[in-house]
Amino acid sequence: MKLIDKRIRNSKLKEKIMSTEEASNLIKDGMVVATSGFTPAGYPKAIPLALAKRVKKNKEKLQISLLTGASVGEELDGALTEAGIIARRYPYQTNKLLRNNINSGGIAYADIHLSHFAQQVRYGFFGEIDLAIIEAIAIDEEGNIIPSTSVGVSPTFVDSAKSIIIEINNSQPLELEGIHDIYQPKDPPNRYPIPLIKPGDRIGTPYIPTDPKKIRAIVITDSNDQASPLAPIDKNSEKIASYLVDFLKNKVEHNGLPQNLLPLQSGVGSVANAVLAGLLDSPFESLDFYSEVIQDSVLDLIDRGKIRIASGTSLTFSKEGQQRFINNLEEYKRKIILRPQEISNNPEIIRRLGSIAMNTAIEVDIYGNVNSTNIMGSKMMNGIGGSGDFTRNAYLSIFVTPSIAKNGDISCVVPMVSHVDHTEHDVQVIVTEQGLADLRGLSPRERAETIINNCTHPEYKSKLKNYYQRALGKGGHIPHLIKEALSWHKKFLETGSMK
Ligand code: COA
Repeated sequence: MKLIDKRIRNSKLKEKIMSTEEASNLIKDGMVVATSGFTPAGYPKAIPLALAKRVKKNKEKLQISLLTGASVGEELDGALTEAGIIARRYPYQTNKLLRNNINSGGIAYADIHLSHFAQQVRYGFFGEIDLAIIEAIAIDEEGNIIPSTSVGVSPTFVDSAKSIIIEINNSQPLELEGIHDIYQPKDPPNRYPIPLIKPGDRIGTPYIPTDPKKIRAIVITDSNDQASPLAPIDKNSEKIASYLVDFLKNKVEHNGLPQNLLPLQSGVGSVANAVLAGLLDSPFESLDFYSEVIQDSVLDLIDRGKIRIASGTSLTFSKEGQQRFINNLEEYKRKIILRPQEISNNPEIIRRLGSIAMNTAIEVDIYGNVNSTNIMGSKMMNGIGGSGDFTRNAYLSIFVTPSIAKNGDISCVVPMVSHVDHTEHDVQVIVTEQGLADLRGLSPRERAETIINNCTHPEYKSKLKNYYQRALGKGGHIPHLIKEALSWHKKFLETGSMK
């Protein structure tokens, strides 16, 4: 069989094949455009590049609202930002140029819990979707889309959009077919419980149900996902991981946590990757992983025979990780399931499974509030992503962060966070390279003492203790010297150091 017949199995749909330039002409000024893609995996690449090229060449005025699953690669967020095409952006991003435009007010960005996004699209919060652009490995006989390395919000985009463009990516292996499990809940008042009881349950279809009449164009491409380079695991991340593993071992020995723990969720970034690497040499076996992003460290754990099942919404590997996954795809496929982010991050399921959620903070305060998004309280970094979905609903909600940033000029433990994403009510454990604070059941005053004693860097410990002692003099359930609490960040902004 010819490759094209394997990739487009509905012969009538082959008539829709066109050049990327022609397909990009379907995007018009003012449109709401929704694309596949999640932390950058499985996003369309050829059409956004063609669009950006044309707009720049012709000095066209064309601006769109861009909706995706989460962050996408340079070919989409980078190229469209550079060409001035993005007016509004939802629900998560990690692109430097885009971030700068968000922070200067040039692009209107709303940072949204990733589990909420699909239903909010269906509820119409972002207007009608004019066009969905979906990367796929193939289209089946009925015209259904078989997605590539992520699922994200694609099923909802395909359902809701007036028209669909498909990028068939020949560089994404056809053998990915069967890894996906597509299930969409109905909306209130007709919503039923989601029938997923165990992380490995399959509850949907291996394709995105698609109305072939809506497919306007098909483009053939073959460029890889932008790989996410991972920083080598440093000493501090190793320490954080070892405190965490000791804590979990203790909970197994003394608090009835099962020997194989409970389904694990791990956030994005290098520290999160290091924490999972810490499980490699741990005594835990038969682990389940019910998370959002599947990173290189999950492949390590699978290879070591530690993981029973890994469920997520995207395959976000480094370059080596991509190659390693492809080389052993049939084996990995037995252990990995990709679901819509509405299911991978679903509060109902996370509560049912009793996840152990491990996410990264930018800063934490002495009472346990966490800032994951805004540097110095106002400059957007990435977004809340799925951290809130898991943190609020997990069996155990853990945050990790180095105790200092910017070569020690910033303490990541502060009297009061400059922006709150996760409140003191949701955060149960904080870990830095200095130690671990188990906050469960503690009053605010007990939390402050535990966090200051266990998690702060020696450079900042006496300063934080001094603050807390003087705040105690003022009394209150959560003792604070409000003006002084906020002046920590002011001092850094004025002098370049919190010291
Ligand atoms: N104050 C000011 N800046 C700080 C800081 C602080 N307390 N802590 C870190 N930073 C800066 C770092 O210096 C770095 O700056 P640079 O880009 O100029 O080098 C930047 O913030 C990122 O820090 P880094 O240590 O490289 O972060 P990371 O890769 O481990 O990511 C988050 C950390 C919090 C940004 C990232 O995990 C995130 O976006 N989380 C929210 C979404 C999420 O949790 N998703 C997963 C859910 S499944």
